[in-house]
Amino acid sequence: MKFFVDTADTAEIADLAATGLLDGVTTNPSLIAKSGRDFMEVTREICGLVHGPVSAEVISLDHEGMMREAEKLRKIADNVCIKVPLTIDGLKTCKKLSGDGTMVNVTLCFSANQALLAAKAGATFISPFVGRHDDNGFDGMGLISDIRLIYDNYSFETEILVASVRHGIHVLESAKIGADVMTAPPAVIKGLFKHVLTDKGIEGFLADWAKTGQTL
Ligand code: E4P
Repeated sequence: MKFFVDTADTAEIADLAATGLLDGVTTNPSLIAKSGRDFMEVTREICGLVHGPVSAEVISLDHEGMMREAEKLRKIADNVCIKVPLTIDGLKTCKKLSGDGTMVNVTLCFSANQALLAAKAGATFISPFVGRHDDNGFDGMGLISDIRLIYDNYSFETEILVASVRHGIHVLESAKIGADVMTAPPAVIKGLFKHVLTDKGIEGFLADWAKTGQTL
């Protein structure tokens, strides 16, 4: 499973990229606003920090406006992935862009039928929001299982990008279901490295090592 980080904080992205385990980045208008930086400028910088796809989201709601914005965004770098909302105009834009060989991430997916439509529109990635789905009393991970089943039934190549990930269990369940990608905030990804018994084990080994009086 590929790991994307969901942030526009370039220091956090650089930090995670240095592990060699980061496969891409997702952003959205809220994350750009949080960064306090110019959209084009910060997206360009992010594209230089990772080799994988960097999702940059259009703001327009109509097809023509989305195409105009996508045109600007895709000139930033080869690894820009245009993010469009799951609406009729969004999928129309997805069909057009993917036909031209541009990567497209269809975002704000909350049903398996929406995911089916995105795959038919040639999306590179479909982003079901598991956290927000859970928050509203639905079964976020159940949605991922349904999409996996449908995509496998028809051998769709659209990758399932689990979004709105809130904790390690979402990551674990995504991997068990066979999602292609998950995107999570930096803190959630960093949390995956941690285990209390790892810390305790290191502490014990170092204490015993100190007793040997040796150096390495
Ligand atoms: C994904 O591409 C979105 O940017 C993101 O995962 C939304 O997550 P949130 O529900 O935590 O805002």
